[in-house]
Amino acid sequence: MAEKFKPDLKHSQVTPRHAWLNRRQIMAGATGLLVGSQLSRQAAAAVDLSEYASSVYSTDEEPNKLEDITKYNNFYEFGTDKSDPSRHAASLTTEPWAVEIGGMVGRPGTYDLDEIVDQMTLEERIYRLRCVEAWSMVVPWIGFELSELLNWVEPQPGAKYVAFETVYRPDEMRGQRTGFLDWPYVEGLRMDEAMNPLTILSVGLYGDVLPNQNGAPVRLVVPWKYGFKSIKSIVKITLTDAQPRTTWSEIAPHEYGFYANVNPEVSHPRWSQASERAIGGGLFAPRKPTRMFNGYGEYVAQMYDGMDLAVAY
Ligand code: MTE
Repeated sequence: MAEKFKPDLKHSQVTPRHAWLNRRQIMAGATGLLVGSQLSRQAAAAVDLSEYASSVYSTDEEPNKLEDITKYNNFYEFGTDKSDPSRHAASLTTEPWAVEIGGMVGRPGTYDLDEIVDQMTLEERIYRLRCVEAWSMVVPWIGFELSELLNWVEPQPGAKYVAFETVYRPDEMRGQRTGFLDWPYVEGLRMDEAMNPLTILSVGLYGDVLPNQNGAPVRLVVPWKYGFKSIKSIVKITLTDAQPRTTWSEIAPHEYGFYANVNPEVSHPRWSQASERAIGGGLFAPRKPTRMFNGYGEYVAQMYDGMDLAVAY
């Protein structure tokens, strides 16, 4: 590995963890109990999340409660019900964790996650998450830009795509003992999408390490795409010149494309994508209109110039 470098952060850009918690406590009315449990979980964590900067890319919308974010999940490796991941994901061992990075890179290797995180610039990114099933949340992730990691392993000029793979451990992931999906879950991005500053690898949320049900210890977050692109519990990243296989587009190519950009004008064959149900809003809350590229068009729309967005890719 290359020698360690210190992220070039001005002190004023860094939000110390305790300040963040105080701010959030006031904003969300969280209890002291919650803070205590977060701190004790943090003490056992391998990745160091003690300092991270805030980001201009964060939305100022109110984040969902930790309860919503950790109890309403899609993680088919633990079952198909929204409550299955929070009930069963504790069986996944997330420490130690290594990520194999290979394909068209100058410095392929299998790197310890804590070693990777040590070298990266951590930021809080409060992003909207829009699932293809037409529900949404706002999540305060902590992570680093995928581009920083890819640059660190030196992409070769011919690399056009990045492929991602979730861990395959049927002994720890009860859903993988069924044939529900073709395991392991795989996803992919075009190189420019992977290098876009909005694309992060998340290792935490709400100031603490990522809960298992949210894709611990490291998951992709691509906020302008439907949630299924944001692959969880990643063990393998491969740069390639061919479009990678993706789990959902193989199962149902007419319903889930490779690009899967949020688009209110292109309906899913079985439901409209024009609006979304904001989780945590209560039974009678009106649906929210869905925004093109989930509201991130100013940062990403230019990547799709010339593509017919009326077609669901
Ligand atoms: N990654 C893996 N490995 N397995 C999955 O089932 N579900 C996806 C995505 N990543 C999934 C996955 C879907 S459909 C969504 S909407 C998001 O994770 C949900 O993330 P969350 O549970 O943190 O909200």
